[in-house]
Amino acid sequence: MKNIILTGFMGSGKTEVGKRLAQRLGYAFLDTDKLIEEKTGKSISEIFKEEGESSFRELETEVIKNLSGITGYIISTGGGIVIREENILSLKNIGLVIWLKASPETIINRISSASHRPLLNVENPLEHIKKLLSIREQFYSRADVSIDTDGLEVNEVVKSILSLETL
Ligand code: S3P
Repeated sequence: MKNIILTGFMGSGKTEVGKRLAQRLGYAFLDTDKLIEEKTGKSISEIFKEEGESSFRELETEVIKNLSGITGYIISTGGGIVIREENILSLKNIGLVIWLKASPETIINRISSASHRPLLNVENPLEHIKKLLSIREQFYSRADVSIDTDGLEVNEVVKSILSLETL
């Protein structure tokens, strides 16, 4: 397998799972949000505030286009990366795309602070999560594999990924 790409909503565990999976497999770890922050010298919140969401989406597309050709990485992606068809294609092109599924209730419990997640810095985050999830589910489901993470610890999610026959 060239690379493993983790997709899913904010709070689905992509970063934690990705880091641990990378350790277990001896792969390197990459996070698309971190790449954007390094490239721009700004935090994700600053980019949203100063340049707006559409500019952030452009950066996401650019950053993953630049990943073509890499191998041996676990790549954790921003929760909204899948809403652009070209991003899904870029990701599938470089490896196995795994959707870490989580219910709105699991997500709200896992997200301790929304301060660095501008999209959840709203009055009723649970309602907003439900709404965004209902819009995004069709895009997440384009992944090659999906794993239901409700009720699972990070280690258990890693274990189910390691047991995939497609790996
Ligand atoms: C976003 C998810 C965030 C980050 C940005 C937008 C989204 O990443 O890319 O705040 O649209 O769902 P995480 O999923 O890593 O929190």
